[in-house]
Amino acid sequence: MRFPTLIATLVFSLGNTAISAQNVEESAEHKQRMEWFDNAKLGIFIHWGIYAVNGISESWSFYNNYIPYSEYMQQAKGFTAKHYNPQEWVKLIKESGAQYTVITTKHHDGVALWDTQAGTLSTKKSTPAKRDLITPFVKAVRDSGLKLGLYYSLLDWSHPDYPNWTKTTTRYKISDDTARWQRFCDFNFAQMKELNNQFKPDLYWFDGDWEQTALDWRAADIVSMLRKDNPNVIFNSRIQGYGDYATPEQGVPVVRPKEPHWELCMTMNDSWGWQPHDKNFKSPYMLLRTFVDCLSNGGNMLLDIGPREDGTIPQEEIDILKEFGRWITKHKEAIYETRAGIPNEHFQGYTTLNPSGDILYLYLPYRPNGVVEIKGLVNKVNRVWVVGNGTMLNYKVYNKNYWSEVPGNLYIDVPDEVLDPQITVLAVLLDGPAKLYRGAGQVISVN
Ligand code: GLC
Repeated sequence: MRFPTLIATLVFSLGNTAISAQNVEESAEHKQRMEWFDNAKLGIFIHWGIYAVNGISESWSFYNNYIPYSEYMQQAKGFTAKHYNPQEWVKLIKESGAQYTVITTKHHDGVALWDTQAGTLSTKKSTPAKRDLITPFVKAVRDSGLKLGLYYSLLDWSHPDYPNWTKTTTRYKISDDTARWQRFCDFNFAQMKELNNQFKPDLYWFDGDWEQTALDWRAADIVSMLRKDNPNVIFNSRIQGYGDYATPEQGVPVVRPKEPHWELCMTMNDSWGWQPHDKNFKSPYMLLRTFVDCLSNGGNMLLDIGPREDGTIPQEEIDILKEFGRWITKHKEAIYETRAGIPNEHFQGYTTLNPSGDILYLYLPYRPNGVVEIKGLVNKVNRVWVVGNGTMLNYKVYNKNYWSEVPGNLYIDVPDEVLDPQITVLAVLLDGPAKLYRGAGQVISVN
């Protein structure tokens, strides 16, 4: 039994164009704007604010009425930043292999970390730190060549003209007092304008958009105002439909997201900011697995750290960043500039492809027991090596019959001595862009 025509349609080429084909249409201009982001793969998120004084949840601890607002705000008196060394932060971030970083310039509690002229709440005016913490950070980031992302909460539960205060207390309804809402928007626009003019970030990471509509936020105007002076800036999706990329939070996508660009933001333990009782850290192995999971589905990972109020970074977080650095430096050819890999039916593990589609990278999260297997690969394999180690590996195709168009199974020998303590990466050089057979084999009737 042979189905030559059927088989022809079941072979998919993963060359330049086919691989990036997604369900979402994208303009060439947008694609270009997103290029650095697509190649960056790892970003480091920084949640730093007065909530690190008592080590409680950022803003939510008063919003959810765990403690009174006044008690939450008392923390400002203990925020010193006395050991803050932005060059060291940036050095560590760079060492982790990240290509960008996103820092909280203002969380939902409304305390700005830069010297805002638009409002009264800031680390400069309201804390013993008495200074703008963003300017020196931006300088260090620029000197290092990392891309700069600014987190900005659109909602501000402290602002007297913002409708919501806590989950049980609201100040007013927008529809009842549009002039008051306009005052808040003017304030919000003024703060964003300051950030844009002073820091010209590469990325805005908005948050809190869920409380109002795009219309009420004036989302279209925000985007055009920021792009006017900073044309290539990109936005995350938390601006009610006006973003450039999707932001799944904490949950690793199980199926490949349909958006062409996305970023998983994730904590190392269970907290965004510093919370000393939270020792529930994931191991470097678990976090690297998630990172590779993102790569294999064409996304980035934005991994969070939460410095203490004095600006020191907890040791557990430093250790994780350093292990990322070791692993990423060793495997860099299989990280930056890769694209989403092949479907899991072909390989029991994570995969990516190089830009021209003719190198397939395999990430082995387990000890392979001697061999790994790839099914349904139509291409001829020219060479297989261990990334970051250089060893050439033996490989062989079994079950390829002359009368069948179904490719055989490719087995690659993986000796124990080439294994990385975390995740081993193999490079499979193909004779051209990857082609996959996606059929059910030489089906013999079962009736
Ligand atoms: C959330 C929370 C917040 C956190 C953020 C990070 O939606 O509001 O506290 O800063 O996401 O992704």
